Amino acid sequence: MSITVDKSHHTIGAVVYDVSLSKVPKDIVLGQIEDALEEHGVLVFPKQHAVTPEQQIAFSLALGPLDVTDVDYAFLPDHPEIFVVGNTGEQPVTFSPADENGELEWHTDHIHLAVPARASLLLAKAVPPIGGDTLFACMYSAYDTLPPDQQILCDSLEVVNDVSGLLSYLDDQGLDTETRNNERDSPVTWPLVRAHPRTGRKALYFGNQVSVGIVGWTDGEAKSFISQLTEHACAPTFQYRHKWQVGDAVLWDNRRVLHAGTPYDLAGAPREMHRTTIRETEKIRRVG
Ligand code: OGA
Ligand code: MN
Repeated sequence: MSITVDKSHHTIGAVVYDVSLSKVPKDIVLGQIEDALEEHGVLVFPKQHAVTPEQQIAFSLALGPLDVTDVDYAFLPDHPEIFVVGNTGEQPVTFSPADENGELEWHTDHIHLAVPARASLLLAKAVPPIGGDTLFACMYSAYDTLPPDQQILCDSLEVVNDVSGLLSYLDDQGLDTETRNNERDSPVTWPLVRAHPRTGRKALYFGNQVSVGIVGWTDGEAKSFISQLTEHACAPTFQYRHKWQVGDAVLWDNRRVLHAGTPYDLAGAPREMHRTTIRETEKIRRVG
């Protein structure tokens, strides 16, 4: 069999039909999913309402080892592999600005950890009627469209990533980050341009809040460079906006896309998303 991928009209993002996350994919299907994930960056699997936490974990494990969240109020009881994002828990778990005018938090999952996330799978259990879309931006296109002198510069840079950048962003959005003290790992440095392990293609690798420095630069220089780079890299032409339906499962390739949550009413209708996080197993390699 082969999977059906509908690319529609997006720079990134494709819909995969005829795959149910309730079954662990056979090797041949897994290979097709892996290829499509690299090619399209974001894969949407609609109508996965009936998928249980055990099944989501088993499907995700076929892609690689999973991370267990250290945000201790944010995992599903009995399933530490499932990180619950949304407003249905003890306190909100969100990566979105507080309101429409707020700055987005563009990121790639776990870039601030020694073992970042290679891919993430988010399954929508409850979605609010308004807001809470997720944006994705193609970091192949972002790199490819930089002027040549900027590409050469970016190829040479090493970026410092630290959870403090994310926590101070969340603080600014009025969220309580005190309870997240256990996340304060030391900063990690990665090349700004990484080669995708499956293709060798270059992708920008950073986050606009979590990337807090550039090796050899002052904090001010780094901040303004990262902010200009974000404006280019996350421009609407490189984006796919996912408007969630209950039962959508979205798998993205953290090696080549950034993503950002958009605002919704945290005190309003429930938003509950179950995330499994697949760990990076390849070395983060610079190119050029
Ligand atoms: C995530 C994430 C964005 C959203 O789960 O990693 O960034 O829209 N989510 O919930
Ligand atoms: Mn994320």
